[in-house]
Order: sequence, then C-alpha cells, then structure tokens
Amino acid sequence: EANSMLDLEPPVHTRLRTLVNRAFVSRQVERLRARVEALANELIDRFEPGKAVDLLPAFAAPLPITIIAEMLGVPVEMGPQLLDWSHQMVAMYMHGRTRAIEETANRAAREFADFLRGYVTERRRNPGDDLLSLLISAQEDGERLSEDEMVSSAILLLNAGHEATVHQTGNAVRSILMQGGDVSRFFGSPEATAATVEECLRFDAPLHMFARYAYQEIEVAPGIVVQPGETIGLLLGMANHDPRAFADPLAFRPDRADQKNVSFGAGIHFCIGAPLARLELQVSLKTLFERHPKLHLAEEARFRDTYHFHGLETLAVGF
Ligand code: HEM
Repeated sequence: EANSMLDLEPPVHTRLRTLVNRAFVSRQVERLRARVEALANELIDRFEPGKAVDLLPAFAAPLPITIIAEMLGVPVEMGPQLLDWSHQMVAMYMHGRTRAIEETANRAAREFADFLRGYVTERRRNPGDDLLSLLISAQEDGERLSEDEMVSSAILLLNAGHEATVHQTGNAVRSILMQGGDVSRFFGSPEATAATVEECLRFDAPLHMFARYAYQEIEVAPGIVVQPGETIGLLLGMANHDPRAFADPLAFRPDRADQKNVSFGAGIHFCIGAPLARLELQVSLKTLFERHPKLHLAEEARFRDTYHFHGLETLAVGF
C-alpha cells in the first residue's frame, strides 16, 4: 500500500496516475464495448432455463474481473485466484478487523505481488498490447516507475477494478426491479441507458464511505471545524441522498435534472476507472434486461452485513 496511488499525494500521485490513466481515458475504454457486450451475452447464455440464478456469481462478478485481467494482460484463468487475493486484502477495510484478518491480508498481498513480479519479468521478455507492457515500456523509457510502483498499481487496478463494480451491478439490478413495470423504458436509447446508470450510482452506491485527512484547518459547516491531521469520513452514500442537493432524493428518477452523484469520489483521486465502470454497467445492464425483460426477484435480495462496501449477499432472480 506504500505505493498505492489511492493513498499518495502529488507529486508521486500525479506521476503514477498520469501513466495509468492513459489506458483509462474514455477513448481507450470505448474500444472495449464490443468485448463487454460479448462477455455479458456469454454469461447470460449459461443461465439455466427454468431455474433461479444468483446474479452475483453468475453475472456481476465474472464480467469486471475478466475485463480488467484482459486489460492488464494477466491470464483470465487466474480470475478466481485474483478474486481470492482481492477479497482477503479488502477485508482490511471492513469493520471488526482481527489480527487473523490482517495476517491473511498481508499474506495475500505478498502472494499477489510475487505473482505479478513473475509476470512482469515474463512481459519484459514478451511485451503485448496490454497495460502491464505499457507500464514496463514507460519504466524502460524514463525510469519513471519503480517495479514496486508497477506491482502496486496493478494490484490496485485488479482490486478496485472489480469489487465496487460487482456490488454496483447487483445494487443496480435490484434498484431497477424495485421500480416495477416495463424495464425497457430505462434503456430506450444510449442517453437513457447512461442516465439510468447514473441514477443507479446515486440511488444505491457500492462504496458508502471514504476516509481522508485534513491538511489544513477547515470549517466544513457552520461551527464544524476540522483540524489538520484529523480524519474525515466522507459519506458518499449519504451525500447522494442529501435533500439540499437532490430533489426528492429517495425517488429513483433517471431523468432528474440535478444528477451529480459522488459515487466515484471527487478531486485529484476521482476514480480512474469511472469511464470503464460506466461502460461495463451500461452494456451489462442493457444486455441483461433486453435479453430477459421479465427478469424478477426469485427471493428477497439480502444485503451483506458489511460497512464500507455496500452490496448484496445474494441476488436470486427468475427470468
Ligand atoms: C462502480 C464502480 C466503481 C466505483 C463506485 C468506484 C469508486 C471509487 C472511489 C469512491 C474512489 C476514491 C475517490 C476519491 O478518493 O475521491 C476510487 C478511486 C479509484 N478507483 Fe474506482 N470505483 C469503481 C470502479 C473502478 C474500476 C473499474 C477501476 C479500474 C479498473 C477503478 C480504479 C480506481 C483507482 C485506480 C482509484 C484511485 C485513483 C486515485 O487515487 O487517483 N475503480 N474509485
């Protein structure tokens, strides 16, 4: 984590972010649209007719991990192992962390880093058209990136690249189904689909809190002064429901004029993966609801008893 851009400040943060960001600008990400659509269709093809399917393992989880593994140039068959490492590492940010959880997370981080170091060596010999090769060539050109920074960036992308997206996919399907009626009204045009996804992000965000530190004394609200070094818990999920910022905040209204959700954060650390996450959500939700317009909950969707990540335990649906 010492090299994770999420927790770094300029100038190191700027240097790392600029390099990684090359692969995530909208123009690059747009090239993945057809692949995301094909993958969504493949996953839907595997649903067994007449049976309820839990969309989290069957649809929401495999899609983002496959895409980010392909982008990085890591073998897709490694998906389940990457997920295991990632789950063990992000357990560090959950409430009620124990020594055993910390040790498991540390072990996972070491194994994950060792795997990537081996992979970087392999990619140095055989560069490809992937993000890891791009980072290696940046390093070889100007020494702008140490090997530790490269490994940390890859781990951050693999972890961040799917945990939040999985939960957002589940939360979005549930939010849409809760509206009742014909779901095709949410996906009538690319603009409508994009607006639906933004409203899903606002309505039920997958990350409810990000902690940051104050660098200088600041009065955040009348009488509420934060001192340098104090932690601020930024309640993203709550900000998205602030009645002073959103008219009728508890209503799901993709056509709202005041859409400005903060689910991807704000400022210099604003989510690098936002264009990718938006594309994945737009394509996967549209494909799912177009293929199965009668999709419905087979049982009540249950939220996981966690804080920080806000997502479902199961999402059993019939179609
Ligand atoms: C719905 C899905 C996602 C949500 C809700 C989300 C949310 C966030 C949030 C809240 C932050 C912190 C922003 C801040 O501190 O102001 C963040 C940072 C970040 N996210 Fe995402 N994210 C998602 C998907 C992704 C994806 C798909 C990737 C990459 C493939 C990604 C990569 C990152 C990275 C690298 C950072 C750190 C950026 C920095 O520190 O400069 N995220 N994300």
